[in-house]
Amino acid sequence: MLKIGVILGSTRDTRIGGKAAEWLMALAGQRTDLAFELIDLRDYALPFFNERASNMHAPTQDPEGLRWQKKIAEFDGYVIIAAEYNHGPTASLKNALDYAYVEWLRKPVSFVGYGSVGAARAIEQLRLIAVELQMAPIRSAVHIQGGDFLPIMMGQKTFNDLAHLPPLVTAMLDDLSWWANALKAAREQ
Ligand SMILES: Cc1cc2nc3c(=O)[nH]c(=O)nc-3n(C[C@H](O)[C@H](O)[C@H](O)COP(=O)(O)O)c2cc1C
Repeated sequence: MLKIGVILGSTRDTRIGGKAAEWLMALAGQRTDLAFELIDLRDYALPFFNERASNMHAPTQDPEGLRWQKKIAEFDGYVIIAAEYNHGPTASLKNALDYAYVEWLRKPVSFVGYGSVGAARAIEQLRLIAVELQMAPIRSAVHIQGGDFLPIMMGQKTFNDLAHLPPLVTAMLDDLSWWANALKAAREQ
């Protein structure tokens, strides 16, 4: 079974990202074609990037950076759970993306975003970053926005209350599965 890493991209103490991750992992766990593992950036004490170059060009020195790369190498594709801070991705996520390179190469990535516009602006930036990392950012993504997100942010509703979202998650993961299979076969050739 292909392995998908679900990267939880926000780390602040009061983050809502943890609830999004819990909800997504419960849905993802129902699938029989993909195996999912949650990768919480809180579990990696990555410094601000302080290497001579990306690991495509120079071996990483920082032990935590190496531990991060080893984890990322395990997967055939990724789902990034994306918050939007000031119309961009969180700094912790960008730093973590920078802290690997060869591990991302030619693997697909999709997104689950939440915020006033479902983190659409952050996710568009993340797609550009993913291209530079030689990943394949796929079109399908799940955006939890506006009237759906505000009651969650205010603590009046949970992600589980939004019955129209699971089919969108299914469609996104179906697409990710196709790309993960296709790119794994291509990498192995
Ligand atoms: C520093 C900061 C900047 C934010 N900027 C935006 C933004 O540009 N667009 C948006 O929709 N929400 C923005 N928000 C609100 C977030 O969508 C909301 O706080 C969300 O819960 C953040 O994810 P997190 O709780 O997992 O950290 C911002 C929140 C913070 C803390």
